[in-house]
Amino acid sequence: MKIAVYPGSFDPITYGHLDVITRACAVFDQVVFAVLVNPNKTGPIFTTEERLAVIREAVAESCPVDVASRIQVQSFEGLTVDFCRRLEATFVVRGLRAVSDFESELQMAHTNRKLAPQVDTVFFMTALEHSYLSSSLVKEIFAFGGDVSLMVPPAVVRHLEAPAARL
Ligand code: PNS
Repeated sequence: MKIAVYPGSFDPITYGHLDVITRACAVFDQVVFAVLVNPNKTGPIFTTEERLAVIREAVAESCPVDVASRIQVQSFEGLTVDFCRRLEATFVVRGLRAVSDFESELQMAHTNRKLAPQVDTVFFMTALEHSYLSSSLVKEIFAFGGDVSLMVPPAVVRHLEAPAARL
């Protein structure tokens, strides 16, 4: 069974992330949305628990059933490759939106391979219509009262608009 880990902050998940994991599901038997618990990262909009809940809702609502059935959602602390080892995953999935992503992604892929030669990184090109998207932009637009509903799945909008209902 080919298991891949798709690590990230996902704060919040965007249509770009859903596009990448959907592509990955065409290649791997199981793909795990791996939400990094990173207490040092500044300005999170959602807690880890909320990110997990939002992603689960988004996958259930926005992905075809045959894709959703192969997606798992988990959080992790520490190194991505250690999380891969625990799950017996031999692939890391990352999305590439533009050439500007490539340099840091290449460095990360080489580092991960040095740490765990059995784990290979596979890149998927984000669909052109989502290639401008980033979680940071979504956060900024939302902070200034802009409409992010074309950038993120409805689950994110619901959670953004209902802070009282937050976990
Ligand atoms: O969504 P992001 O913030 O671009 O994701 C970055 C992430 C989580 C993939 C990266 O920071 C990561 O893998 N962090 C875990 C710690 C780790 O394994 N560091 C070494 C990789 S170079």
